[in-house]
Amino acid sequence: MSLKNILTTNNWNDIPGLFLIELNRPKVMNALNTETLAEIIQSIDENKNAIKCVLIKGNKKTFSAGADIKQLAQSNSIDHLNDERELLWKKFRLFPFPIIAGVSGYCLGGGHELAMACDMTIACENAVFGQPEVKLGIMPGAGGTQRLTKALGKSKAMYYTLTGKNFNAREAYEFGLVAQVIPTQTLDQELYQLGKTICSHSPTANRLIKESVNKSFESSLGDGLDFERRQFYLTFASQDAKEGMNAFIEKRKPEYKGN
Ligand code: CAA
Repeated sequence: MSLKNILTTNNWNDIPGLFLIELNRPKVMNALNTETLAEIIQSIDENKNAIKCVLIKGNKKTFSAGADIKQLAQSNSIDHLNDERELLWKKFRLFPFPIIAGVSGYCLGGGHELAMACDMTIACENAVFGQPEVKLGIMPGAGGTQRLTKALGKSKAMYYTLTGKNFNAREAYEFGLVAQVIPTQTLDQELYQLGKTICSHSPTANRLIKESVNKSFESSLGDGLDFERRQFYLTFASQDAKEGMNAFIEKRKPEYKGN
């Protein structure tokens, strides 16, 4: 597949399984047109048997300034109904292995929805988050009102989606939207280290943990605990679980194979 809007790297010799996506439409602040979204999803889908962890970043000034307003301005409801975006977002949501967003600079609208759809976000001190769609006479359409409300609660989610005001990295951290705030110049290093840690663990355990954490958003506590218990039993079917525990007992580094 030829990529026009993103750059991908998967050739770290020391970390097999780490897959980096760089959003690369700097002239339009990495606006997420359908083609860009399709490239993100197709690139991870095509490589999913070799991927253990995905990193997504933009450039220093912008993670992404949201959906492509020039594309949106020419569209009507039926274009949206027939557009592949909904399917692409669903595929992204169901990708089995951890996806980490590394945010420097603007992370707005659909860009923020992309970050929230990732499994965790690392924010640089210069990060600016927001759902400004209301200022364009539209509304978030890819999780902005849903994931933001789950993280911030009703009142704050209403505040940010109805005013279109931005919030900074520290505020995002306090809201629980980001896992860590880091100095801006250290993003590549921090993402690499985090990716390395995640890739050093069993892909099966990573996958079952991801499914289990995500289940907590969609179930009661009782159902979630039952689901987690069964996922826990399932880890014991993997060779990786035996390897991990034996390596601990034998005082050596585990070698996980994903089986
Ligand atoms: N779509 C298309 N082009 C965009 C864009 C976007 N979302 N954001 C920025 N650009 C373009 C600008 O048009 C401009 O292009 P030109 O040089 O050709 O004029 C270029 O990127 C640089 O932008 P600015 O000159 O505006 O840069 P700035 O530093 O002054 O401001 C900004 C940066 C605050 C991010 C500002 O660009 C901005 O407000 N962008 C729009 C943010 C927004 O409203 N996002 C929501 C989009 S709708 C959405 O996402 C819907 C959804 O959820 C489904």
